[in-house]
Amino acid sequence: MGGYRQLFDASVADAGEFWAQAADAVTWTRAPQRILDDSNPPFYRWFPDAELNTCANALDRHIAERGDQAALIYDSPVTGSQRVYTYRELLDETARFAGALRNLGVGKGDRVVLYMPMIPEAVVAMLACARLGAVHSVVFGGFAAHELATRIDDAEPIVVVSASCGVEPTRVVQYKPMLDHALELASHKPDACVIVQRDKRACDLVDGRDIDWSAAMADAVPADPVPVAATDPLYVLYTSGTTGKPKGIVRDNGGHAVALLWSMRHIYDIDPGDVFWAASDVGWVVGHSYIVYGPLLAGSTTVLYEGKPIGTPDPGAFWRVVSEHGVKALFTAPTAIRAIRKEDPQALHADRYDLSSLKYLFQAGERLDPDTYAWASAKLGVPVVDHWWQTETGWAIAANPMGVEHLPLKAGSPTVPMPGYDVQILRVDGSRCEPNEEGAICISLPLPPGTLPTLWGDDARYEASYLCEHPGYYLTGDGGYLDEDGYLFVMGRIDDVINVAGHRLSTGSIEAVLAGHPAVAECAVIGVADEIKGQVPRGFVVLKSGASAEGLAEELVAAVREEIGAVACFRLVDVVPALPKTRSGKILRKTMRGIAHGKDEPVPSTIEDPAVLDTLRPILQG
Ligand code: COA
Ligand code: AMP
Repeated sequence: MGGYRQLFDASVADAGEFWAQAADAVTWTRAPQRILDDSNPPFYRWFPDAELNTCANALDRHIAERGDQAALIYDSPVTGSQRVYTYRELLDETARFAGALRNLGVGKGDRVVLYMPMIPEAVVAMLACARLGAVHSVVFGGFAAHELATRIDDAEPIVVVSASCGVEPTRVVQYKPMLDHALELASHKPDACVIVQRDKRACDLVDGRDIDWSAAMADAVPADPVPVAATDPLYVLYTSGTTGKPKGIVRDNGGHAVALLWSMRHIYDIDPGDVFWAASDVGWVVGHSYIVYGPLLAGSTTVLYEGKPIGTPDPGAFWRVVSEHGVKALFTAPTAIRAIRKEDPQALHADRYDLSSLKYLFQAGERLDPDTYAWASAKLGVPVVDHWWQTETGWAIAANPMGVEHLPLKAGSPTVPMPGYDVQILRVDGSRCEPNEEGAICISLPLPPGTLPTLWGDDARYEASYLCEHPGYYLTGDGGYLDEDGYLFVMGRIDDVINVAGHRLSTGSIEAVLAGHPAVAECAVIGVADEIKGQVPRGFVVLKSGASAEGLAEELVAAVREEIGAVACFRLVDVVPALPKTRSGKILRKTMRGIAHGKDEPVPSTIEDPAVLDTLRPILQG
């Protein structure tokens, strides 16, 4: 493993030296003298004495050489529009919007929540926050008011930036009423909301609180980048944990810039001027790292696509974008490829386009099943690179580093750990597994730059969630194994997190909604296999005595949509007489999951009443 092995070994042998070299790619206002602060384990900080501005690294520093190069290509089949922003134009818009935020009182360290569809203003707003040293927190548009309110209460923003609506293929999603409702629910009230009025549907503005984006821009003077400590937060991104309360993943400025720049070159093989397209959403970590920051830090061109893999207008949509904009690397979730394959099994739509620019298809967000891998490899004729990461890490833990060397691919494996990630598979007792033995995938501390330093305002929860189970290690929450060649196989979550169409959801938060219904005595939600989305949630509820099941399923489906959002894709719910439990009252979700997946699941010795499981078995298998 020539180049890769050398790099990986160097990163483990002397992490300080490895990342000091990588840090040279960043433009610092104060260059790092110290690389790693390890004085307070298990908390580690990268580049503790350095200063920079992430927005200046993403925009200003490219102007001299590539001011007229496309920075961002907005391609929106759902509205029938396209627009190209050069680096100069994107900088002008961003500096002006930073000025607008400053007029509203936003400064270094203040939070700004963004609830935005996939429009250029979302990217501008993120970069504008970074310019001021403010901390953005983007909430995915598919989440409903209650979820938005929870995040607003945790982040306590001064300003919220949103839009009148989002445009889905079959409907216009009205964001503004959702925002208004969230602000009624939230205890924290921002001083102002800046609203982009979209042509598709404008919205009413609340006097004294809401400001039209254009008016805010018209009044603004462009703002200069504010230097911040490398360890200052750039953003907080909430993700699902095992409880209903989302976790605020913190990303710092310095480590993030260093790691993303390293990844663009070494993992994605992207040089300045190349076109990179992550077909995700700015509301997810993939959108943060690889629609916005990574490609712009690298001086390449990013594509912002407001559309779907199918239906906008057909399963050739991705191939059109690749050929029209000369995309070199496409990054998407396997679910998108499965959706395309289902509608166009022969990939006839791919033949309609010139795909010669495409060199790689990167896959992440969920396990890349060998069938999808084989289909995409055969139809596209380029390396299909599975890589594994999480909101927490912000960049790939395991990948095949295309800019270093093309390691032989193994179907079902995201290949090998990336530099800085000393991946170990642990048994329950903390000992290390043998090759091919499945266990908990853990990473020896410290984690590399770019990964979470903590959870927003909650060091204790950070420790409890990730660091306590196996002292000295970060617990990823995924299970899997390393084979005899050091290839990693990620087999799925070992907690109650599920992955629906590449979107991470907590079954606990869905259970909380079901349990809130007056007819429900108790409930369990598990992830079950779905042909396209990988997994979908399935609920099982037990009625309170005397309660009626009539119309209940519809009410529960509507309640989850109302409280969590359409993104939960919650449609399956069964009323059952009882749930299988241990003698101490713990619901046997893992056993239920196993049976639903057709596994020969042993009946746990701790079960309270085996007859309950026997009754449930045909329902689970049905
Ligand atoms: N704003 C508002 N609503 C949204 C939304 C957004 N940004 N994104 C999705 N939704 C809604 C959808 O309209 C849909 O609502 P519906 O129940 O009324 O139809 C619901 O949330 C589920 O959306 P989605 O998961 O996109 O399912 P779909 O059936 O519309 O499309 C796929 C199926 C496979 C095409 C789609 O899931 C997809 O493109 N997946 C790729 C996911 C991806 O890239 N993930 C990024 C991780 S790397
Ligand atoms: P998220 O934080 O939303 O990016 O989700 C992270 C989770 O998605 C991981 O913990 C895995 O369970 C899953 N995941 C992401 N990428 C992969 C992959 N390439 N293979 C298997 N699982 C993946």
